[in-house]
Amino acid sequence: MKKILITGGAGFIGSHVVRRFVNKYPDYQIFNLDALTYAGNLENIKDIEDKSNYTFIKGDIVEENFINGLFSTHNFDGVLHLAAESHVDRSIEDPLAFVKTNVIGTMNLLNAAKNQWKGNYEGKRFYHISTDEVYGSLGADGLFTETTAYDPNSPYSASKASSDHFVRAYGETYGLPYVLTNCSNNYGSYHFPEKLIPLFINNIINNKPLPVYGDGNYTRDWLFVEDHAIAIDLVFHEGKNHETYNIGGFNEWKNIDLVKLLCNLMDQKLCRNAGTSLGLITYVKDRPGHDLRYAIDASKINKELGWKPSVTFEEGLAKTIDWYLDNAEWLQNVTSGAYKDYYQKQYS
Ligand code: NAD
Ligand code: TYD
Repeated sequence: MKKILITGGAGFIGSHVVRRFVNKYPDYQIFNLDALTYAGNLENIKDIEDKSNYTFIKGDIVEENFINGLFSTHNFDGVLHLAAESHVDRSIEDPLAFVKTNVIGTMNLLNAAKNQWKGNYEGKRFYHISTDEVYGSLGADGLFTETTAYDPNSPYSASKASSDHFVRAYGETYGLPYVLTNCSNNYGSYHFPEKLIPLFINNIINNKPLPVYGDGNYTRDWLFVEDHAIAIDLVFHEGKNHETYNIGGFNEWKNIDLVKLLCNLMDQKLCRNAGTSLGLITYVKDRPGHDLRYAIDASKINKELGWKPSVTFEEGLAKTIDWYLDNAEWLQNVTSGAYKDYYQKQYS
């Protein structure tokens, strides 16, 4: 039996990865380590919490002694590291929190893995999940490749870039068997409604303003989260050690075009008159240091591992909207704060 540690498994992407691994690999023992910050929500994975190959551990990756103890107790074979502070706007308000979790927390995991595995790396793997934002901003043309120079602009992307460098350094210096992926903006179910798509879906449902930063002419490359989880599974099992893979949706949208599409689709789903939600669009002050454009060249993972997105954006977005409309209670619990009680109810 393989013992796999997944960090951040109560968050958005992590919950999809945990669900996939628990269901698909009954021979693995999956340990989900999560501090349950504001972004951690055990309701995201309540469908698998009773599975015999699943254990939830509440804990903070910033606490070095705790992390060392966890590794010596369980001697994990593999680590998939997703825990992070993940929101750019929050990083502008409180950069230090991002250094603590994203840099120090990653260091604690790397150190614990190195010290536990002691150079005996057979069957071991450390997988660091990162972002395309480490590459900085593109102009009108071009794509990020795995060899694009790092050029982070926000405190969030700087902290992720730093953690990526430490992962590589542990590979070079100690031979730690790592794989690293940098992916584009994810969307899908269980997404905390502070990020663009779930925030705007929630606001449209509730007839609240849709705050578009600046002129809205910023571009992101949107990736369906379930396709990302498939890619993570593939890279964890078949990626080459010490390699980086970019993961993207081949799906660039200017924010304002995406928001208009969302408004129109939501009007149809909510049986509102065409154009109703467009009236909620409100241009607001721009984000400082706002990166103009992200777009990923995902040809390496496609050629080497055979991955490509399985759904079109139209399909993914329709599934996403349906999920939020069908899961009004989840959204209500997140926006009211009631989701925070779930841990006490289930685990105390
Ligand atoms: P998220 O904010 O939804 O979830 C993060 C999870 O980590 C939460 O469950 C939180 O409780 C946990 N966490 C935070 N600090 C912790 C700590 N100190 N100790 C233990 N757990 C802690 O994030 P996400 O969107 O699911 O992102 C997951 C990973 O993917 C992150 O590393 C992020 O940088 C990366 N990523 C995300 C996107 C995206 O579009 N969401 C894109 C590229 C890369
Ligand atoms: P976001 O979902 O925060 O992801 P990231 O900043 O990591 O790309 O934002 C996506 C884009 O949407 C980004 O260009 C900022 C913009 N945005 C808004 O215009 N209004 C909002 O309220 C939010 C949250 C984001």
